[in-house]
Amino acid sequence: MKNQIEQLKREKNAVILAHYYVPAEVQEVADYVGDSFYLAKVARQSEADMIVFCGVAFMGESAKILNPDKKVLMPDPSADCLMAHMVADGLIEEMKKKYDDLAVVCYINSTAELKCKSAVCVTSSNAVKIVKSLPNRNIFFIPDKNLGSFVAEQVPEKNIIFNDGCCPIHAKITAEQVKWEKDRHPDALVLTHPECDRTVVEMSDYVGSTSGIIDFAKASASKEFIICTEDGVDYKLVNDSPDKHFYYPNPHPCCADMKLNTLEAVLSVLEKEDREIIVDRDTREGALKPLERMLELGK
Ligand code: 13P
Ligand code: SF4
Repeated sequence: MKNQIEQLKREKNAVILAHYYVPAEVQEVADYVGDSFYLAKVARQSEADMIVFCGVAFMGESAKILNPDKKVLMPDPSADCLMAHMVADGLIEEMKKKYDDLAVVCYINSTAELKCKSAVCVTSSNAVKIVKSLPNRNIFFIPDKNLGSFVAEQVPEKNIIFNDGCCPIHAKITAEQVKWEKDRHPDALVLTHPECDRTVVEMSDYVGSTSGIIDFAKASASKEFIICTEDGVDYKLVNDSPDKHFYYPNPHPCCADMKLNTLEAVLSVLEKEDREIIVDRDTREGALKPLERMLELGK
């Protein structure tokens, strides 16, 4: 299957972009693997005719919005981010009425419709920097209350209003689970994604995006780590540092939607070109602005 994928990529001038949470064998055939911010930048700059995006819906959708003339395919378009929809109808409009200078800051893990109502998008690797750079004091941070509260800690000069949404996979990681691992591996450093609950963030040695976690582990002199994010990162962590040990909360955090990106599905979509991402013009125009502003402010 890998050989067939390589051949089809060459024939069709296609590139495969993959997030760190997709299965290891898919990361192996990908041309670019990274966190959400990196993948958005790669999608923007790509010169390929076709992008196969192995991730979840908001990622493929963002790639299409940034590249309207390219064919963007997803191996399984039903792969969705559960958090992307978690903003109650009418709430953004209500908040905009309540605060004159409100900036709606939208985590990229959101639907294109939510992006259309937002001033700027952010990812976990640039949220603090971007929120700091905004002129507005009042910020409505959607949809993730956990990333929102992590940002609020780093940017105390802003009034950050939280939305009641979160990633069900990261939110399931508890301080007790992490403590259980820490008791067994007392020398291990705790590396955490900011989508985790505050109680987990507070006991961590490092908090950052998937790339941030991977880079930190590689550069660290420590040999053991407790990883508080989805276990797909293990492939890159172990590849980078085969001599180090990585432990996960029990049960391992696993995003079932990300795992829909199988090698079979990648091959099939390259053969058939049948799972194309389509975004209507109004939505594309509305969502492009906050995405472009993110790429600019996040530089
Ligand atoms: P990153 O941008 O850190 O890769 O996070 C994406 C994501 O979906 C985390 O759950
Ligand atoms: Fe969305 Fe959570 Fe899956 Fe990331 S891990 S894609 S935030 S559901």
